[in-house]
Amino acid sequence: MRSKDATWLVLFDRGKGNAPSLVERICGAVREAVAAGYLHQGDTLPASRVLASDLAVSRITAEAAYGRLEAEGYVVRRVGGGTFVAIDATHGARQNARAMHTRARLSARGSALVGTGGCVDARIARAFTAGFPDPLAFPLDVWRKIATRKMRGDPVDLLSYGDPQGAEELRQAVSSYLFQSRGVDCSVDQILITTSSQQALSLIATLLVDPGDDVWLEDPCYPGAHTVFVGAGAKIHGIPVDGDGIIVSSSGEYRGPKVIYVTPSNQYPTGATLSLERRLQLLGQHNLRDTWIVEDDYDSEFRYEARAVPALQGLDNHGRVIYVGTFSKALFPSLRLGYMVLPPALTEPFVTARTTSDGHPAQLSQAITAEFLSQGHFTAHVRQMRRLYKSRCDCLAEELHRYAPQLTRSAAVGAGLQITVYADLPSDLDVAREALRRGIDLRCLSPLYLGRAKRQGWLLGFSALDNETIRVSARKLGELLFTT
Ligand SMILES: Cc1ncc(COP(=O)(O)O)c(C=O)c1O
Repeated sequence: MRSKDATWLVLFDRGKGNAPSLVERICGAVREAVAAGYLHQGDTLPASRVLASDLAVSRITAEAAYGRLEAEGYVVRRVGGGTFVAIDATHGARQNARAMHTRARLSARGSALVGTGGCVDARIARAFTAGFPDPLAFPLDVWRKIATRKMRGDPVDLLSYGDPQGAEELRQAVSSYLFQSRGVDCSVDQILITTSSQQALSLIATLLVDPGDDVWLEDPCYPGAHTVFVGAGAKIHGIPVDGDGIIVSSSGEYRGPKVIYVTPSNQYPTGATLSLERRLQLLGQHNLRDTWIVEDDYDSEFRYEARAVPALQGLDNHGRVIYVGTFSKALFPSLRLGYMVLPPALTEPFVTARTTSDGHPAQLSQAITAEFLSQGHFTAHVRQMRRLYKSRCDCLAEELHRYAPQLTRSAAVGAGLQITVYADLPSDLDVAREALRRGIDLRCLSPLYLGRAKRQGWLLGFSALDNETIRVSARKLGELLFTT
């Protein structure tokens, strides 16, 4: 295989200026391509001589990159046979992880966690990167002014260690935002400020799940949740989802799972809203006594065609719902701030556990975010983005209708930062590989399914794209579908 034919080289080009060395750029491109599902277990990589010549790097560089990837378990090299991808982000990773971790001598828990392949987010938005707020639309001038004001004088507190539960002014601002906008009923003491939803999910898995415990996940499921529970050694049960969200009654013989993870406002990835009937079913099961329900409310700010549905947490009379939120979508992902609303019995254990990882989020960003919320900038920004993203969502829907009418939209209601579409094709991954070669980023649906019944399709992000880019890219996607 000539390396010029390899789609992952787009990622190599993109790494220009980011990675410290050519070796790291090559490694980074392969790792990213594996994580995104563009390279699969068994795929052949070009011979190091070919790679060196095509990338205009020395043979030593190409060899060093392959050597490092082999040590990390990403590739295997067979003398005279070639270099092959050793892991698959979805299925193969776990098997290969065993070999990789025997070498690295990780703990059983560490091996399980690393064996999931982790979850890597795209760093730049292009058509159709999913889940990306528009960085150019963020009111940086307001943010900068608040930051300057905060840093004036001697901001000793901002330069010191902070509260492991999160800055009190931010917890206050978050609690009143959640009460007003999401119907979340909580005191400031129940809020834990995290660096992300992902951190919240990791804490939940660490503190509440023992190896072998039953965990229900929506099927298909958000991989960030799947990875942490697999990493915790949980016994995963994929519960099917339809247009009304998770089908609680299809869980079969009820054995009282430790955790049920749901995305009620905007099911990831199908976009279904959990109906009121199902919400009540979920909360009303008499045998939920030992079960925690995790409500991941990651992008509920963005709902375009219907009124926002209040959070599940507000309906919970038994203190079993753990609410998880993030500023990654409503503000910007690099902020690394999220929050949890914990049932009172869990607050202290969670705060203690967080002291053993990162201590607390950065003081300065917490202070700026608190003021951004309390002065009304957050609400104004979200209102503006809702308008902007709605127009982009409509534009994508129209262009897909025009150029790719064979795709069916999974949810009737416009919400979030992407449209999920189903395709009647044998492999969404094959199309995504070809699309990447043509400069289009497609997040595939099939790897997000936990059971055998997988649907093919993609999550098409629109929020960070202007209408012209949406138009041109939808046409390219249509052409691609026509030829495959
Ligand atoms: C369902 C879901 N939860 C959480 C997140 C990410 O949040 P964070 O960046 O805070 O980890 C995402 C991002 O795409 C998501 O889709």
